Amino acid sequence: MTDASDPVKVHRGLAGVSVTDTRISRSDVDGSLVYRGYPIWEIATNAGFEETAYLILNGNLPTGSQLESFTEGLRKRGEVPPKVLRIMRELGRDADPIDAIRTAVSALGSLDSEKDLLGKQMSLEAKMSVLAANSHRVPRGEALRTRKSGLRFSDNLLQMLTTKEATEYERRVFERVMMLYLEHDLNASSFTVRVVASTLADPYAAASAGLASLKGPLHGGANEAAMEMLLSVKDPAKAGEFLQAAFKEKRKIVGFGHRVYKEFDPRARLCKEYLREMLARRGRDDTLYRLCDAMESEMWKAKRIPPNLDFYAAPIFYSLGIEVPLYTPIFAACRIFGWMAHYNEQLENNKLIRPDSTYVGLSGLKYVPIQDRSL
Ligand code: COA
Repeated sequence: MTDASDPVKVHRGLAGVSVTDTRISRSDVDGSLVYRGYPIWEIATNAGFEETAYLILNGNLPTGSQLESFTEGLRKRGEVPPKVLRIMRELGRDADPIDAIRTAVSALGSLDSEKDLLGKQMSLEAKMSVLAANSHRVPRGEALRTRKSGLRFSDNLLQMLTTKEATEYERRVFERVMMLYLEHDLNASSFTVRVVASTLADPYAAASAGLASLKGPLHGGANEAAMEMLLSVKDPAKAGEFLQAAFKEKRKIVGFGHRVYKEFDPRARLCKEYLREMLARRGRDDTLYRLCDAMESEMWKAKRIPPNLDFYAAPIFYSLGIEVPLYTPIFAACRIFGWMAHYNEQLENNKLIRPDSTYVGLSGLKYVPIQDRSL
């Protein structure tokens, strides 16, 4: 990257603008996604969540002993300070789960006892899954669900999210979906994290800003909104009718479209297959799968817009018995690892991110005392 001395006009939403070099991951218009050099299907098929998190954070797959110490580092940092839980509880039963997590992360910035940067980051990574799983329980005054020792990171999150018994295949599907949510180059929240990191603020500040930008339905909030939509449509035969009505009202269809992927989102393709297989293995009613498939083909016929990860992750979470308001928190529990990788990469070669803007407002006005002003 070079430094610009003259302002350069860029596209709205920074579309198609490269603002940094990165070695963490790369998504491409042709539907490819690479994590540190590995195609996403290599990772999703063969690796585990902790291994993938280590890869994204460190740039290489861990050896056995590296993985053991990374896993142990997370395991021993999973406990959330009681004062942070009290602050979450104070928010009350109507608190939005992402607001509750963000408040808790801000509080951790003051209350966490970690001394060094790596410790702070591991603390956030470990605690985020506990905060996510409890983000609606604690504000409602319900008992905290905690991690159990000896479980995979993903199994631990799943057992905190739902009491429904999952098969080994279902647990593996959940782990794979978590790996797909772990990182995605310069999405809105990772960019936000880099902006905050560039000011040299601490990782808690960066993570709380990341959570703020994750909340919106154009980003992390999309998986919940997609599920609400699927539940409202219900019947695969109604997919076309629903879409046509939405187009007439110029409404966007959540779970479709992507800034980078225009033909297909590779993560959605993987999740579609996981959903189909998961329902088939249990001999379950496959209406939800058929509904998604019908929406996908009607949307493609009408607009040539493909589904994204959120569209197929949501029905997987639903089929696993997870409550809808927890879907965006799950996203946060996974993406915190990507955020921290971006935080560190930003600091490796930091320059304060402070773009320019083109002023198109008025100028040269004279101050008018308040008593002399009129509308
Ligand atoms: N439903 C209907 N139309 C859509 C659409 C959707 N989900 N996504 C894009 N489009 C249309 C836009 O209306 C626009 O049409 P126009 O050129 O006739 O105005 C065109 O496709 C380009 O869309 P735009 O919003 O400019 O693309 P973008 O790259 O800025 O948007 C998203 C990417 C993700 C913000 C957008 O696709 C969207 O809002 N999707 C729904 C939310 C979602 O699922 N978010 C999760 C993303 S992983």
